[in-house]
Amino acid sequence: MYLAVLGREPKISLAELEAIFGATKVTPIAENIALVTTRKFDLNRLGGTIKAGKVLDESPIEVLASLPEGKITLGYSDYSDRATKNTSWHEALKLKNLLKRRGRSVRLVPNVDAALSSATSHHNQLGEKAKHIEIVQYGKYLAESIGAQNITAYAKRDQARPARDAFVGMLPPKLAQILVNLAVGNIPEGRLLDPFCGTGTILQEALLMGYTTYGTDMSEKMVAYSKKNLEWLADGRDRLPKFELSVGDATKNKWSGKINFVASETYLGLPFSAPPANIKLKEVMHTTGSIILAFLKNLAPQIEKNTKLALAIPAWKRLDNSFSMLNIIDEIEKLGYNLISFKHASVTDLLYYRENQVVARQIIVLRKT
Ligand SMILES: C[S@@+](CC[C@H](N)C(=O)[O-])C[C@H]1O[C@@H](n2cnc3c(N)ncnc32)[C@H](O)[C@@H]1O
Repeated sequence: MYLAVLGREPKISLAELEAIFGATKVTPIAENIALVTTRKFDLNRLGGTIKAGKVLDESPIEVLASLPEGKITLGYSDYSDRATKNTSWHEALKLKNLLKRRGRSVRLVPNVDAALSSATSHHNQLGEKAKHIEIVQYGKYLAESIGAQNITAYAKRDQARPARDAFVGMLPPKLAQILVNLAVGNIPEGRLLDPFCGTGTILQEALLMGYTTYGTDMSEKMVAYSKKNLEWLADGRDRLPKFELSVGDATKNKWSGKINFVASETYLGLPFSAPPANIKLKEVMHTTGSIILAFLKNLAPQIEKNTKLALAIPAWKRLDNSFSMLNIIDEIEKLGYNLISFKHASVTDLLYYRENQVVARQIIVLRKT
């Protein structure tokens, strides 16, 4: 069993875990903590889990004492409701003293909070390198960390790409990974379509996860950007799956070959720097909603029954900080899709946005009927 520390949007993280492991294997035990019953937990392919540990059935001191010779680097993170910086430090010191008595030397990673941030854990290589250990606690559960999200690798995949475009928006690679996982679930291979591929972030993450990809976009410029980015990704890697790209309007395009999964951030409409007035909002909702529906209508006869789609569609922040969402689920269902629901998150929970953003992304997962 693993203990997963969930990211900034814990409901989205739970949906991702459910998609991969199945709803019955995932048990939320706090807002940002879930237990996952599995033998294998690959943190690197999850966008929504920021740290994970294997739940221990022995005492942490036994784990630590059995490590090979040499200095141990130890971090302690307690996510329990009442834990503080001091209680965590106290637990860490206790372990250090017990180990000292057994003749082991330990460097403790200083904590400014009850839990180490995932950045601190990652920079200290806790859980990633022999003798770099982090004990992760929530209530009675004690786990040995298997690592924290690799923020260095994410930043590189995001900022070092040669073709970037602020206007189409920057889909964070983590969210791209989540969309891929929501579409592929636990199926290890296949061909993934992104019909609004833009600069190719979803294609990039799907390729790194081992799926062949097919990207199309109405804009020639965007397809050229995707090509440049994916060639950069492939450069120097000998085992990247195959990718195809072509220009095409998603509302009319005929896609060639078999499509096993669809993951896409659809057209989000014009960017806004402040919540739009009602009339503007109505207009952008109509435009984006019509494109998404026309795309789904066009796609339906081109994919097989049970094919899964994970889409990020727009939602807009109102002045009172609530969100206006596209009300198109009924119409989508009439086109031959079912909305997939999650045990631990409701449809309206799956909103991804940053504090200063007006246009948020609502995530919907569909299955072709
Ligand atoms: C929000 S962006 C996607 C960005 C992408 N996720 C990325 O990583 O860069 C939406 C994309 O949809 C494209 N688009 C808009 N309408 C389209 C249509 N009818 N068919 C295909 N692409 C369309 C735009 O050119 C734009 O690249």
